[in-house]
Amino acid sequence: MKTSMSLQIVILAAGEGKRMYSTLPKVLHPLAGVPLLERVITTANLLDPAAIHVVYGHGGAVIKETLRHVDVHWVEQPQQLGTGHALLQVLPYLKDTDQILVLMGDVPLITVATLKKLLEYTQHVGFITAEVTDPSGYGRVLRNAQQEVLAIVEEKDADPEQRLIKEIYTGILTASARQLQAWLPELRNDNVQGEYYLTDIVSHAVAANEPIVAVLANSVEEVQGVNDRAQLAYLERCYQRNLAKQLMCGGVTIIDPERFDVRGSLQVGQDVTFDVNVICEGDVVIGSRCVIGPNCLLRNVRLGDHVVIKANSVVEDAQIDERCIIGPFARIRPGTQLASDVHVGNFVEVKNSEIGKYSKISHLSYVGDATVGCEVNIGAGTITCNYDGVHKHRTVIGDRVQIGSDTQLVAPVTIGAGATIGAGSTITQDAPPEMLTLSRVKQQTVPGWRRGKK
Ligand code: UD1
Ligand code: CA
Repeated sequence: MKTSMSLQIVILAAGEGKRMYSTLPKVLHPLAGVPLLERVITTANLLDPAAIHVVYGHGGAVIKETLRHVDVHWVEQPQQLGTGHALLQVLPYLKDTDQILVLMGDVPLITVATLKKLLEYTQHVGFITAEVTDPSGYGRVLRNAQQEVLAIVEEKDADPEQRLIKEIYTGILTASARQLQAWLPELRNDNVQGEYYLTDIVSHAVAANEPIVAVLANSVEEVQGVNDRAQLAYLERCYQRNLAKQLMCGGVTIIDPERFDVRGSLQVGQDVTFDVNVICEGDVVIGSRCVIGPNCLLRNVRLGDHVVIKANSVVEDAQIDERCIIGPFARIRPGTQLASDVHVGNFVEVKNSEIGKYSKISHLSYVGDATVGCEVNIGAGTITCNYDGVHKHRTVIGDRVQIGSDTQLVAPVTIGAGATIGAGSTITQDAPPEMLTLSRVKQQTVPGWRRGKK
């Protein structure tokens, strides 16, 4: 292996993706929450290349904007005249001594392990193939009686006999810049699609007697392309199933791995159970012995050990400490911090609030922009009125406070430690500690009153 060759990765992503029938460019459709193209770029980076060139065209502005956080060299292909023409656009940026690896922006699950197998062959034209049961849509690998590669023929150009071939070209190819400089300008578009096919360089290599190698992918799934939404859904499930398997093998219980989705990064402690239809998005960290009930959404959350999230709860941008119990039907919104042993019950919404240890908000409440102490009990139907129509204000509730049911706390307001608020109160002024405060129209009974007659 010549170590002086530097690796340049080219990702082809200029196509429209007609078969998606979408206004969103195909390579921006997400798989497990990440755009297809971004997945390929992340994998490419793991190979430590000298540069990554992304050939873009269709939807270029929105692609560059969506992926502005990634460090790649964008190369425009103004007209999509085929994969060979796409790669041609990158030639001016390559040095003779470079080795080129071509990846497809719509083949999202390709693994580093398979790519490394291919990159062992530096002096060759090499490409990755797979044996599939249904090769439709893919280029077929033609070989002679000695099993040597002769060419790749696109399905649309293949004759009926060639179409029976089950060995397909995955779109992933390596060659030296020198070879590409010689062959790409020679490509012709006299084929059914009128395109300049990158695959035709294989015939050029054969004609030039250059060594060719076809490397079999480690799995069929990792080389599948996304051309339509059915294939996208199929690969999404492959990805999720694979991840669920890894988690289960690492000691996580997933009641039904077919109904478990991770769209981001998930770290899980020991003996955690996920019931069906749990979705984890963004960065989710879960401690040991937690139980996540059915139909829960966790987005950017940290759960301490022994947390129980009951059915149908949504928890977002929150930190939940150990032994908290949440739900069923709870909504924990961004900026919430629950200290240990807090209970948040059904139909309770908490937003941008800190709740101290052992406090309980068990039923039908809204707690927003609040600082709640320890061992506080907030009765059913309590509302922090945090918004005056213009500004948001804070509610501060001291330790050991008891708030009676159906209370409105009109912020800004402070309830002193140990205070009790009578049920049904509208509290507009600070309540002193350790005392009973209530605001309630006195109950009266009207003597001699009679109901009207029909
Ligand atoms: C291509 C291969 C086919 C292979 C399959 C694997 C060619 C001629 N065919 O077919 O042999 O089995 O991939 O998935 O290479 N693109 C551009 N500019 C263009 C055309 C395409 O950048 O002018 C990009 C697309 O955005 C896409 C990739 O190249 O990311 C593949 O293009 P697509 O049209 O999907 O090719 P396939 O028909 O799938
Ligand atoms: Ca494709």
